[in-house]
Amino acid sequence: MMLLALQALAQYQPSPENLKARAEFQDRKFGVFLHWGVYSMMGQGEWVMNNRNINHEEYAKMPGGFYPQYFNAEEWVKAFKEAGVKYITFTSRHHDGFSMFGSKVDGGYNVVDATPFKRDVVKELAAACEKYGIKLHLYYSHLDWHRLDYPIGSSGRQLGRPTNQQDWKSYYKFMNGQITELLTNYGSIGAMWFDGVWDHAGDATPFNWQLEEQYALIHRLQPSCLIGNNHHKDLNPGEDIQIFERDLPGQNTAGYSAGMTVSNTVPLESCQTMSDSWGFNITDTRYKSREDLIQMLVRAAGMNANLLLNIGPQSDGRLPATALSRLKEMGDWLGVYGETIYGTRGGIIEPHEWGVTTQKDNKLYVHIMKLQDSALFLPLTGVKVKKAKVFKDGTSVRVTKSKEGILLELGCVPEDVDYVVELTL
Ligand code: GLC
Repeated sequence: MMLLALQALAQYQPSPENLKARAEFQDRKFGVFLHWGVYSMMGQGEWVMNNRNINHEEYAKMPGGFYPQYFNAEEWVKAFKEAGVKYITFTSRHHDGFSMFGSKVDGGYNVVDATPFKRDVVKELAAACEKYGIKLHLYYSHLDWHRLDYPIGSSGRQLGRPTNQQDWKSYYKFMNGQITELLTNYGSIGAMWFDGVWDHAGDATPFNWQLEEQYALIHRLQPSCLIGNNHHKDLNPGEDIQIFERDLPGQNTAGYSAGMTVSNTVPLESCQTMSDSWGFNITDTRYKSREDLIQMLVRAAGMNANLLLNIGPQSDGRLPATALSRLKEMGDWLGVYGETIYGTRGGIIEPHEWGVTTQKDNKLYVHIMKLQDSALFLPLTGVKVKKAKVFKDGTSVRVTKSKEGILLELGCVPEDVDYVVELTL
């Protein structure tokens, strides 16, 4: 089994464009995830259709009331840009099966044909991203609670759908048709971000999603488009990004990453919520603090991963005010410390309780986030430290060498959200 998986992986040879795109993706470090759809109107998250067992025909009446009057793609993208965000991942179609783009192959169940709004949201976002130099990635759900041809899995079982019209071939053709639209009509797409194959994880006979063919189609349409799949398992052939849901690589506090081996060949991405929810949730006020969010980004970078931080826009087209102010705080911090994050890779010193290191060329950035002492020991051997200074003001830091490593004498117990010492190697 293991051998087979390795052989299959070995067969996928990423193209030169793809490898270049992977490195650029890693350089970007900070993305915003957007969960936005007709579910946003109910303010109970993107799983509301399933969680409240809403009949599929009743749910399909919701788009008729979707009119996000304040939606302005440029305003969103500009706010992200100012916050130091380098890419966005937008839900082109979530589990409820409603497309947020003008699809011609979905029987009109999309934002252009089924809402009074009639505007192609993906198109407007793509144009704004192009204008502001932000990469657009697209989330795409493999599972579907709306279509009758989708072979029903472990979710969406109480939605009143007849079971006699399930037809994998027809559904697979539909998905590939939409993917072709997304990769043909919206310019260059940074990544396709899949989610939902776990819907059939419990099947008695393993479900064949025919991912390899689908991935090949994507790489044929846009060789530089990266593929990520939030399947909570080790990589499949054809995938270019490894995703960790609500956890940093190698951790499993949220329970989605059990048994996952952190890849050392492809870029890593950790997706996290800014509050507790993905889609807009009107009762969720549990926003993470400025400190938590900055440290999340820094810890991800130190673990060689990007942070994809989620916001659930409101149904009126606005971003929640708290989300905007948190973004602003992160942007202010990145305005000063961006150099120690963007374009870096996880540093040569493994992540510790006290913090992490990031690295770029001959610079090693020591991010101290939790230290009780005024000195820090680094297990750094075999390299010469030419210079050590506090990143924000250039004060030099005394370094003493020992056989086991070096000691940084900080002269104070660091209290900043992230106290950065820059070492020149
Ligand atoms: C889960 C949820 C989904 C959400 C995703 C984001 O897979 O099913 O609603 O979009 O996580 O990581």
